[in-house]
Amino acid sequence: MKSLLNPGEPMLPTLSPEAFTRLASLLRRHFHLELPGHKEHLVHSRLGSMVRDLGFSDYDGWLDHVEDDASGEAMSELVNRLTTNFTWFNREPESFALVEQVQVNRWQSRCAGGVFRAWVAGCATGEEAWMLAMILHDLLAESDCQVEILATDISRRALEQARQATYGEDSLRRLAEDLRTRHFVPLEGNQWQVADHLRGMVHLHLLNLNQPAFSFNQPLDLIFCRNVMMYFDVEARRALVHRFRRALDSDGWLVIGQAEKLEAEKGWVAEGRAVFRRSES
Ligand SMILES: C[S@@+](CC[C@H](N)C(=O)[O-])C[C@H]1O[C@@H](n2cnc3c(N)ncnc32)[C@H](O)[C@@H]1O
Repeated sequence: MKSLLNPGEPMLPTLSPEAFTRLASLLRRHFHLELPGHKEHLVHSRLGSMVRDLGFSDYDGWLDHVEDDASGEAMSELVNRLTTNFTWFNREPESFALVEQVQVNRWQSRCAGGVFRAWVAGCATGEEAWMLAMILHDLLAESDCQVEILATDISRRALEQARQATYGEDSLRRLAEDLRTRHFVPLEGNQWQVADHLRGMVHLHLLNLNQPAFSFNQPLDLIFCRNVMMYFDVEARRALVHRFRRALDSDGWLVIGQAEKLEAEKGWVAEGRAVFRRSES
């Protein structure tokens, strides 16, 4: 009789409660990422086959390897696999509608002859940054305003896709047809690439938002950080919101995820759901 076990598929490594705690504490220490106790399944599904293919029969040996690897590659691979980079064009359209409708006059006059600076923090595979580029391009093109968008993420792999700027139907299906036609070039295989006129507007960089120091040479007009802080512990969320405030111009804007809460008591005025303007008090 044929065995139900597939002999070609070696067992996944074992994850002891101690190794899970060690992994959670490593993620907290290095990235302020929270790994709640019920996420054992996530660890197995995202890391199991990699740990096994590297030749480890349990997670402890692999954790030693991650901590000993001076190149940082193993740590980077760990965070790449555990963070969720899933996103799409026009995700949470309320945020973009606000940029379009409420801000148009204000930003057009403020930016005339100057530079409008935005930062997309936690941009994943780039859709949010390219989306913002399309909107700002259309809003500000006639006002003699240059647009610079910095888009950052901790995942090298996600940034590589953002750089390719090539997307399929899954990612594009919620984008207005008019935007797709004007800002993309169709490629073979039902793929679409962001058009050249937007490419120079977005600068992509690797950045761990929880690293102690990063700063900007110029004050920013707008920060998008949506669906990122929810992975961090409260302490890291507070510190980051404080840094966002310092990075913004005196009445710059911060947009967070629709389901997120701003971890700050003062220094912000709510201008809409999940949208905040920096205030002096
Ligand atoms: C769910 S995606 C959100 C993407 C996009 N902002 C959106 O709302 O659709 C979360 C992103 O945050 C990134 N991320 C997680 N921890 C990070 C950190 N410490 N520094 C920078 N990016 C981080 C992940 O790599 C992932 O791409």
